[in-house]
This record gives sequence, structure tokens and C-alpha cells, in this order.
Amino acid sequence: MKRGHGIGFGKAILFNEHFVVYGIPSIVSAIGQHTVAKVEPYDKPGFTLLDKRPATPKYKEDKLEQQKDSFSLMFKKMGLDLSKNGVSITLDGNLYAASGIGASAASCVAVARALAEYYEMSLSDEQINEIAYEGEKGYHGTPSGVDNTASTYGGLIWFQKGDANVIDRITLANPVEIVIGNTGKVTDTKAAVDGVRQRKEQNPKKYQEVFDRAENIAYLAKRAFADRSYTDIGKLMNENHKLLQQIEVSSRELDFLVSIAREAGALGAKLTGGGLGGNMIALTPGKDVQNKVATAIEKEGFQTVKTIIGASREDVEY
Ligand code: MEV
Repeated sequence: MKRGHGIGFGKAILFNEHFVVYGIPSIVSAIGQHTVAKVEPYDKPGFTLLDKRPATPKYKEDKLEQQKDSFSLMFKKMGLDLSKNGVSITLDGNLYAASGIGASAASCVAVARALAEYYEMSLSDEQINEIAYEGEKGYHGTPSGVDNTASTYGGLIWFQKGDANVIDRITLANPVEIVIGNTGKVTDTKAAVDGVRQRKEQNPKKYQEVFDRAENIAYLAKRAFADRSYTDIGKLMNENHKLLQQIEVSSRELDFLVSIAREAGALGAKLTGGGLGGNMIALTPGKDVQNKVATAIEKEGFQTVKTIIGASREDVEY
């Protein structure tokens, strides 16, 4: 039977979510979890979906309409006509479908790859990334492209949106342990991005100052990665979280998880992704610190994922 399959990485933004929408540089990493998509024939027009991903309660229901829009945008971008022969799409893999860790981007990339294989289109990573970017519009409206870029290429990436996006690899000698803490709240990235835009328009001076500091932090973090100074990276993540609080995308639960992670020994912790709920990320080099931080968060009744930054395709079995 004709079949296609593909993967997309989950991601964690280490620096400058939201600021990235306005062309401020960001640092993003693929994590050790990924989504797998399978495409098979369907005996009706259109598509049918079986979503077997593990998920935060309500995530799949809340995102269903956006997910359908996203698929349609990708079919269109790929020039696929499903009016006679449809496709059956199955989503699976070990990436939690939750807000903030690239669940939508990972599924777009996985589906784009699976469709390309199914229709025997030989596409480069660059083309897959462009299709996934189109798919991301179904979820976010005007995404920066940071999430789909990490989900496509893997590894650790310096990303800056522009007429031509800057996508540079940051080399890590070895993947580094992190803990992701889930507030359990499903959030709408589009609403979070719209909120920042409105407040920025209302307070241009205050926002400009915060944005300038965010830009500075990105360059300092790049240097800290080059020096492999995880202590500095952690401090800069803490600084970055403060800026995200100032643009009002953090939440009580996120701030709580961030403080627990720091008290338990994380070098730094911040919200990751759209914010207002969703997930936080803590930098925890070494298994001991990673376990301590994860246990402290779990004791408070929140779910964690112990994973790595800098995951590459060689780290994935599917
Ligand atoms: C969402 O993961 C990241 C945001 O910066 C939105 C975007 O970049 O498109 C909040």
C-alpha cells in the first residue's frame, strides 16, 4: 500500500519568544521529543485524521478547527488536489501536544514530510520548512517562523525574522539537559501575540526599552553559548523571563513553576513559547540537577518532561 511518513521536532524557545515576531533575534532548540505523521490512502475525498499524540487535556479539542485550517493551507501550498482521492493522516510520537513546546509546528513539519513522501515529491528541508510555515498560519495567523524552523532542522538555532530569515546553527558540544514544566493550561498563541501588539501600540516607549534589552540579551546569550558558560546562559534566561513578564505574557502558574525550578537548582528558568499558560523551561545541565528540578515541580502536582536541547535527527528513532 502507498504510504508516507515523516517527523517534526518539538521545540523550546530559550530566548525571545514574542520579541522574535518583530525581528529581534531569538535562540530556539529542538528537544528530544518529536511528532510522527503517517499518510495513507482514504477512500473518500478530503482527509481523515487519527490523532494519537499524548496531550494536555482539551488541547486537541481546542485546536481542532485551527488544525483543519492548517492542513488545508499545507495542501494548497503543496498543490495537492484531494477532491477525488483523499488521504488518511495519523499523528503519533512522544511529543506531548501542549502549548509552548512546538506541538503545532512539529505536526506541520511531520505532515508536510509524510505528504511529500506519499506523493513522491522530492523536497528539500527548506521547502518542507516553507510548507510547515504555511501550516503554522492556521494556528497563529502571523507566525514568525521560529517554531517550524526548529521543528524542521533540529539542533540549536539562532533565528531572526526578516525579508530573508536568518537561520544559523549554534554548535553544542553535547546536548544539554533541561526540564519542561507544564502548567496544564492550553493557551492561544494568536491571542497572546495580539495582546503584545496592542499593548506595544499603547505604550511604545516602554515597549521599545524592553525590546532593546531583549535584543541585547540575544547577543549575550550567543556569546555565552560560544563560551559554553551555562551559568551565564541560565542568568540570561532569568533576565529574559523578566522581560516577558513586563510585556505581560507570563502567568501566575508560570511564575510559580519558574521559582520552584530555580529554588531546586536550575541555572535559569523562564516561560517558553506563547506564554499565558503552557510550558516553562529550566536549564539543568547534568542528570542530578535535572532530576531534582523535575521532582520539585512534580511534587507541586505539575507534569514535567526531562529532555535535552540541541537534539538532532540522529537522536530520533521512528
Ligand atoms: C510561539 O512559540 C512563539 C511566538 O514568538 C510566536 C511566533 O514566533 O510566531 C510567541
